[in-house]
Amino acid sequence: MTIPPPRDDAAIAPRATRRRVLSSLVAGTLGAWLPQPLTALRMLGTRGPSDDLCVTPARFDTPLHVPGRDGLMGRLPAGNDPVVLRATAGTGTGPALAFGANSGNSAYVNPMLVARRGTVLRITLANESAEPTIAHWHGLAIDTANDGNGERLVAPGAAFDYTIAVRNRAGLYWYHPHPHGATASQAARGLFGLFAVEDDEEDALRAALALVPGETEIPLVLHDRKRAAPGRYAPSSSDRLFGWYGDEPLVNFTARPFLDVTARRYRLRVLNAANARNFRLAFRRDDGATLPFQLLGTDGGLLERPQQCTEVFVSPAERLDVLVDFAGIAPGSLVLLESRAFDPMHAVPAQRPATGAAADGEAHAMRPTMEPTAAAAESMGAADTVPDGMPLQLLQFRIHAAEGKAPPLPARLSAPLPLPVAMDERPLRLGFAKGRWRINDRVYDVTATPIVVARNAVETWLIRNYHTSMPHAMHLHGFQFRVLERETSPGELAPLVAADRGRLATDLGWKDTVLVWPGESVKIAIDFRHPFPGEQIYLFHCHNLEHEDGGMMLRVKVG
Ligand code: C2O
Ligand code: CU
Ligand code: CU
Repeated sequence: MTIPPPRDDAAIAPRATRRRVLSSLVAGTLGAWLPQPLTALRMLGTRGPSDDLCVTPARFDTPLHVPGRDGLMGRLPAGNDPVVLRATAGTGTGPALAFGANSGNSAYVNPMLVARRGTVLRITLANESAEPTIAHWHGLAIDTANDGNGERLVAPGAAFDYTIAVRNRAGLYWYHPHPHGATASQAARGLFGLFAVEDDEEDALRAALALVPGETEIPLVLHDRKRAAPGRYAPSSSDRLFGWYGDEPLVNFTARPFLDVTARRYRLRVLNAANARNFRLAFRRDDGATLPFQLLGTDGGLLERPQQCTEVFVSPAERLDVLVDFAGIAPGSLVLLESRAFDPMHAVPAQRPATGAAADGEAHAMRPTMEPTAAAAESMGAADTVPDGMPLQLLQFRIHAAEGKAPPLPARLSAPLPLPVAMDERPLRLGFAKGRWRINDRVYDVTATPIVVARNAVETWLIRNYHTSMPHAMHLHGFQFRVLERETSPGELAPLVAADRGRLATDLGWKDTVLVWPGESVKIAIDFRHPFPGEQIYLFHCHNLEHEDGGMMLRVKVG
């Protein structure tokens, strides 16, 4: 294969218009430049930048880090030998805080654990860092003792042993710290890894599409950092309110990455590991046209059939299984994975003076007065923040010639995925009062279990977000659920509706995290049957990690 010289990145820039230039200034120097009226407008959640805004092209000058058999994000087969994950302060250029592991002669940083469904894993977390921590297994069907929910921490110098029976379908899950109040800080510094489960359906897909992990199947872990102080986490009061946003997106811990690909299909397994940022992902060709892709799977594994998409939102902790086809694209061309501009709809209700003010746990005084707080205004002024919803260029693909004929895309990816048939409906309201985001007016209390689910229950949860609010990425530990319905969704979701009852393509598979937009109602179905003896405690929380640390989290007791 001959590698043509990379083209000038400007080839991918759209025609400059005044608005685009304005936008690139905003993205470049940010805040400082942003005029106040626009600030207010954006914080009020009225229309944000239009779709055609685009920042000045980044210089994609670093090869994407593609995980291999060792090193950063390397694939570590788990199941035969016990695995020891050491939480350590990182060294040099990698994550500032990381999980180290060794297997045979190989050393790993934040390894991608790869396990077969049905196996039992023995994993030890050895805390060699200076702060208490715990690893949580996001998305796994697991008992409380092994869930790592943060109610038990591992002190510096101590260790904790997990026994994990892998019950989940094949899919991309992940592990990350969960010490309440410090989750955001540790995750922002890079302490997280992927957990891939494999099974027969997974094998069949790889065989059908001739996919080779590390070559044509590549995980893409998205997060962001502050360029001037990577590895530092010092949230302002507005960060605590709206979430912590960096000014530089990373893909697999690489800034401004490019990837050499051949003109064939690639499977990209995306995790949004950012503390708070949502991405509106799309592929753009260098002639400006959108390159559609197939959505193969969601948080809990493969869809029944591939869904063609032009763009898709991915909120913190969500995963996407994406198949993009570069066939037919001329060698020498570029394709850009970008996050398109969207209205992040950030607003908090103005706090009214306490007139017979509600106590914690009582109805909160939510009034849609639409006044941005001082903190909201402040967040727009931070020079080291690119606010949510700003367009970002994430990864450049450089297309090279391919040989051979591509196998056809299978029409079916998995056995049918029937919806759980629920008996009881439980209302959950996402709101804000007295300076904190809340679920049903409550904040996290380790001594309280506001949600009690009977043994063997199957429930629907109706999650409603207030109009004056912000998007919340709601996550449940221990169970995968299905999205039944979206109602009163914001207008910018309308073009993404792919099925009945307002559902998006990403709503058509198993989920453990669902983004609920301001004003929206999302109905999910959860089958709480589990094989574990006795009562189990799980957590339901917002995966905007600043919201989680701030207490937007409730304990769920499952009998
Ligand atoms: Cu990935 Cu409790 O979270
Ligand atoms: Cu979780
Ligand atoms: Cu939230």
